[in-house]
Amino acid sequence: MVRCRFTILLAAGALAACSASAPAPAPAAAAAAPPAAPDPYHPLPRDTVDAETYQGWKQFMLQCSRCHGDEATGSTFGPSLVKSLGPTGQISTREKFLDVLQNGVKDKGMPTAAKMGLDSVYFDGLYRYLAGRGSAKLKGGRPARSEQAPVP
Ligand code: HEC
Repeated sequence: MVRCRFTILLAAGALAACSASAPAPAPAAAAAAPPAAPDPYHPLPRDTVDAETYQGWKQFMLQCSRCHGDEATGSTFGPSLVKSLGPTGQISTREKFLDVLQNGVKDKGMPTAAKMGLDSVYFDGLYRYLAGRGSAKLKGGRPARSEQAPVP
């Protein structure tokens, strides 16, 4: 009997790889099962974004998430940017967003981009990512990239 060597693959993939020795799942059962994540630390992406927005997410994780939360929903220290950039939030335009990034919020704990060492080439990607979170078009977490163009 052929032993399956792909035990760490997704269940569906493993079944396909082992089809010589394992019976195919009933179609109804296969349709009902959601795609399994490889492990809890690497969940499957829920969003697909272009390279610039992907870079924005990356910068968000590097520079902003420690105060605004991994999903931009806020922490005990920083407010929810999903709310701020959402339909009823006060950061309703790109200009307002850039103003906060460039000037920070003095005496309130929001540093300037210069203080964080955040290059302005990332501003647009950051804005697109966070505006997407605010409008609920993006669900948060590591997104997939729609283009395979190299990212700086
Ligand atoms: C050291 C913690 C900290 C970091 C790092 C940080 N922020 Fe903030 N941010 C804050 C705090 C605190 C406030 C609320 C300031 C206030 O009370 O007005 C804030 C406010 C904001 C606001 C305005 C929200 C509103 O509704 O007025 C925006 C936009 C924002 N941050 C974006 C960012 C982005 C983008 C980054 C990463 C590039 C970032 N922040 C990094 C702490 C932080």
